[in-house]
Amino acid sequence: MLASLERYSDSVFRTLCYNHGADLTFTEMAHVESFLKKNKGSLAKVAVKDSTPVQIQLLSSNESKLDRFLTGFKPFEGFQGFNLNLSCPSKDVIRQGKGAAMVKRAAKTSRLVSLIRDHGYPVSVKLRLGLNSFEKKNKLYLNNLGGVDPDFFVVHAKHAAQSSAEPEDDSVYPECVEAARGIPVIANGGIDSSDRVQSLMEMGVGGVMMGRPALGYAGVFDLFKNELGFNDPPKPLPDATSMKQHYDEIYEQIGGDDKYRDRFHRVVDRKKPSY
Ligand SMILES: Cc1cc2nc3c(=O)[nH]c(=O)nc-3n(C[C@H](O)[C@H](O)[C@H](O)COP(=O)(O)O)c2cc1C
Repeated sequence: MLASLERYSDSVFRTLCYNHGADLTFTEMAHVESFLKKNKGSLAKVAVKDSTPVQIQLLSSNESKLDRFLTGFKPFEGFQGFNLNLSCPSKDVIRQGKGAAMVKRAAKTSRLVSLIRDHGYPVSVKLRLGLNSFEKKNKLYLNNLGGVDPDFFVVHAKHAAQSSAEPEDDSVYPECVEAARGIPVIANGGIDSSDRVQSLMEMGVGGVMMGRPALGYAGVFDLFKNELGFNDPPKPLPDATSMKQHYDEIYEQIGGDDKYRDRFHRVVDRKKPSY
């Protein structure tokens, strides 16, 4: 799966990754309140311009606002449900009781998940290992995995006080898988080789999600699938530079945003993936 990437994962980038092996993609996060206010920026952030499979990522901690939003929501081709963000580490978001602040609120998360289900939509939950090392140590995230029933969980194996440079703690996955009672757990964070995917699968995870690796090389999904034997026959792997051309073709076809294209081109030029 392609991870939500604010300022990068627009419709064009999502389709690029889908064309190169990502089975499911996610929009950038957006506050339910901003949809209710019909905030143009937020609506543009989640704009969907083709039928690439996508879940819309929501920041929410309020049932009645979520209910109002869902009542007015119209599904579209490619729509695969909603993803609740319990992972955002931004201080502003946490102050509002959203993002990673929700990890310890299993009962509240459960009510939000049920509400989305009651409206007839699939729902997943993306969570971190809590707000800080204290919450991680006390394994509060296991209450969420054990007490909420989404279609799948995505676990970003870090707490919210850790920097992006710190390594993820893959050792948590076996316990997460057990706590989730058969609901698939998708692993996320720093997954940079098919060997790592293999070892995560041996821990029982149902799949993996990648963000930054896909920015450097959008073909990383097919690359790992080829290496693990999931693509039969193996798919061709264009080089990182020609991904810019593929991006531009989709951009022309479905209509992209210059700012997103410029950022994507810059990141491809800067990153030198070792694949
Ligand atoms: C530029 C950037 C923007 C991000 N935006 C979001 C977001 O909108 N929602 C979210 O859940 N996570 C967001 N994340 C976190 C990623 O989805 C992912 O969990 C994290 O980068 C770890 O995965 P990776 O090592 O494969 O990149 C963002 C990360 C980056 C680097």
